[in-house]
Amino acid sequence: MTNSYLWWQKGVIYQIYPRSFQDSNGDGIGDLMGIIQRLDYLQSLNVDAIWVSPIYPSPMHDFGYDVADYTGIHPIFGTMADVDRLLSEVHRRGMKLILDLVPNHTSDEHPWFVESRSSRDNPKRDWYIWRNPAPDGGPPNNWLSFFGGPAWTFDEKTGQYYLHQFVKQQPELNYRHPEVLPAMLDIMRFWLDKGVDGFRVDVIWLMLKDDQFRDEPPNPDWDGVVPFMKLQHIYTQNLPGVHDLIRQMRRVMDEYDERLMVGEIYLPNQELMKYYGQNYDECHLPFNFQLINLSDRMTWKAQTVRQMVDAYEAALPQEGWPNWVLGNHDRHRVATRVGPAQARVANMLLLTLRGTPTTYYGEEIGMENVPIPPESIQDPPAVNQPELAHLIGRDPERTPMQWDDGPNAGFAPAGVETWLPLAPDYTERNVAGQETDPTSMLNLYRALTNLRRSEPALSVGDYTSVSAPQRGESRGADDIFAYLRSVPNSDRFLIVLNFGSKSHTLDLSHVAPQATIAVATDMIRSGPVDLSNLSCRPDEGLILRLD
Ligand code: GLC
Repeated sequence: MTNSYLWWQKGVIYQIYPRSFQDSNGDGIGDLMGIIQRLDYLQSLNVDAIWVSPIYPSPMHDFGYDVADYTGIHPIFGTMADVDRLLSEVHRRGMKLILDLVPNHTSDEHPWFVESRSSRDNPKRDWYIWRNPAPDGGPPNNWLSFFGGPAWTFDEKTGQYYLHQFVKQQPELNYRHPEVLPAMLDIMRFWLDKGVDGFRVDVIWLMLKDDQFRDEPPNPDWDGVVPFMKLQHIYTQNLPGVHDLIRQMRRVMDEYDERLMVGEIYLPNQELMKYYGQNYDECHLPFNFQLINLSDRMTWKAQTVRQMVDAYEAALPQEGWPNWVLGNHDRHRVATRVGPAQARVANMLLLTLRGTPTTYYGEEIGMENVPIPPESIQDPPAVNQPELAHLIGRDPERTPMQWDDGPNAGFAPAGVETWLPLAPDYTERNVAGQETDPTSMLNLYRALTNLRRSEPALSVGDYTSVSAPQRGESRGADDIFAYLRSVPNSDRFLIVLNFGSKSHTLDLSHVAPQATIAVATDMIRSGPVDLSNLSCRPDEGLILRLD
């Protein structure tokens, strides 16, 4: 039955931040040849697709999310021949390759913007969003940049401001101009013709802005910390017209076989679901970031997660395929947010929920945020707002992959200065060390992906949350989140996750009398269990096979 599902429904996506995965040429920055060298490793993780953050030519003001040429390759990462090789090597291993598409803005060095800013009557002028100064000479309205300060920068030469919601070197394209979307669709076709399997589309929910440029109202719930949150972003985000743009992008994807469009969208369920499209004609997967938004141990609670999963499942449109994400290059690492013991539970959750999981590189070995000394900070929001660096700086989750305990963790040759510092504990936490430890996080990750791949109930089966009473009590144990995954004519699985640091004795006999442990987070426990008297240890997760 699993044959009727598409690769991206059954599969696991693995995100690579290319600057930090593997440096093959000794410049301290990861590259495409480095990724190629590590493909056997990726295959050993049983992941089905890799998504690579931007590899295009870029002045790197936002580390590649400022694209100067959408159909080229930055020499730091390699050449187009390297991409072709990566693609064929990925495909040879039965995996898929997803690229990052950044349509909302370009680099200020992109030839389109160079033309646009050259004069007010240049034909590309209105490909970007230019406005006259306010009567006092200041910015045209109160819109803010995510990265601090106003979203407008004044251009001396032509006497107008241009819009950028990120750094000022990321001018925003004007999708109200009839030539801009067709140009972006051609770029999509360029990569799809090459055989790329899909795109993760950067800030897709921001692509359209209010055409009257109204001031945004104050946010009554602002906590006084991050200045960008002062306003309610009703005129710069999630405009109804954006759906028409996305439908046109999807039509291009549909000119090809089984390609995938994932949209980066930070919105609550009700709004998020609209990005599947009324007729499933928008994103295949609007990224679901609810787990990422649980930012610390205080919010990482079994009942919070249970309610979140149940609410998401209930909000999904009938044919909308779910997805879950634990971490990415913009948010603190999950092992730091929830702690190392719960990071195992988090991975078991990710890989047993219904829907496509996305893993951020290093999560499979429990990589944590790396403290960045002030003089080494590189990420623009942290550089612009040093007092908030600890909160919003993204360098800590972008540090080099920890391959072994040798010099530079096997990421770069000895003696090379890596672009961000290595984790101080890399000699203890690295791939090579975990390969040989049967109880390691790495081997847990593999056991989870292996089971998910071989069991239809886990990859495509239904999800039902179940109550998990303590033995002798009727009330569910607060620390426990338990759920069933099942599919007709195949084994069912009961997943029991202890989010707390106390042990519990549970009575789950209402589900079945007994079960067999398929995977335990400690990678030791195994064998049959009596579900009327199930001990669940602190920080323990169990996948139980019901036959
Ligand atoms: C997305 C990216 C982030 C980038 C921003 C601007 O949110 O994930 O890394 O800074 O867009 O392109």
